[in-house]
Amino acid sequence: MIKRASEGVIKEAAEMIKAGEVVAFPTETVYGLGANVFDADAVGKIFALKGRPADNPLIVHIGELEDLGRVAEITAFQKAGSRPAEAGLVMTVKKLADKFWPGPLTLVLPKRKEIPDAVSAGLDTVAVRMPANLVARALIKESGMPIAAPSANKSGRPSPTDASHVAEDFGDELFIIDDGKSKIGLESTVLDVTVSPPVILRSGAVTIEMLAEILPEVIMGGAFRTAPKSPGQKYRHYAPEAPLFLIPDNEKMMDDINILINENLDKKVGVLASKENSDKYKKAFVVIVIGSKNRPDLCAKNLFSSLRKFDKLGVDMIISESFSDDGVGRALMERLKKAANGN
Ligand code: TXA
Ligand code: MG
Repeated sequence: MIKRASEGVIKEAAEMIKAGEVVAFPTETVYGLGANVFDADAVGKIFALKGRPADNPLIVHIGELEDLGRVAEITAFQKAGSRPAEAGLVMTVKKLADKFWPGPLTLVLPKRKEIPDAVSAGLDTVAVRMPANLVARALIKESGMPIAAPSANKSGRPSPTDASHVAEDFGDELFIIDDGKSKIGLESTVLDVTVSPPVILRSGAVTIEMLAEILPEVIMGGAFRTAPKSPGQKYRHYAPEAPLFLIPDNEKMMDDINILINENLDKKVGVLASKENSDKYKKAFVVIVIGSKNRPDLCAKNLFSSLRKFDKLGVDMIISESFSDDGVGRALMERLKKAANGN
């Protein structure tokens, strides 16, 4: 059931978390499917509900900085006599937390042994973030413990940016706290600070340029590596039901799209377009406007809901323009490339 966020609803959800149940809750990035991080059975329910492969670890959400020591092996590093490398990690985390928390940055850190293997998929690291959404933080606080939560979509589906998307994937039995549309609409940036140089495993609203101000040596990880450090990156993601074709951004982009539409007039073709180009594809079955070319942030916010709309309209194929990769646009394009799966 979808319940509009209120103090009472947050209390009710917190009771469920304490009792080992799973609830869906809003964050500023996308909706999450949460459970008590210390309860392996509760965490198991998340994997079962999502149909998530057991080797894809979850993100742990904390409500305040003091919670960090409960999940990550980091406070220990502050003890006198800690090795310089460890002291360096504490400094790095402090600076990053200072600048980006609460917010859409997830840090991969050494894991505390209290975190069940199910959460970290057997890795000796744990991914942690402090969400900015106030309902999320109130829920964590009221539950009295950090909450493990992946995005609240069935595995492989576009992430949910609205309570109704969560209900679409999981039906009416799931307890869903509704706080309207997600502010950012793309999942958090995942940054591994246990390695040197630090690696961005997934791009998001916190960009490499922003991180480089604190970590000049930070690098982008390849999205697909033979042994992915961020196991989730190897799975097909963000995928609408219809195949998606991503058309490169050059002076021929609109012509190329119209050629492809003309070759597929027997099909229901959906086009994902910028506001500026939206009237150029007259023969498409439907054109969905993602946002203005000059507003990558708004395009990012609308991406996943647009992909879900195509599914609802029952299109046979989706043709997408390429959009600006400025700022959060890079994360948007990364998601589109994954949805296109090489097309
Ligand atoms: O914005 C977000 O991050 C949202 C909201 C709900 O917070 N959550 C989210 O979770 O996107 P999920 O499960 O859909 O994505 C988690 C990503 C996966 O790619 C996973 O492989 C990676 O984080 N990850 C988790 N733990 C990791 C670890 N210890 N080392 C490397 N990657 C990790
Ligand atoms: Mg996800």
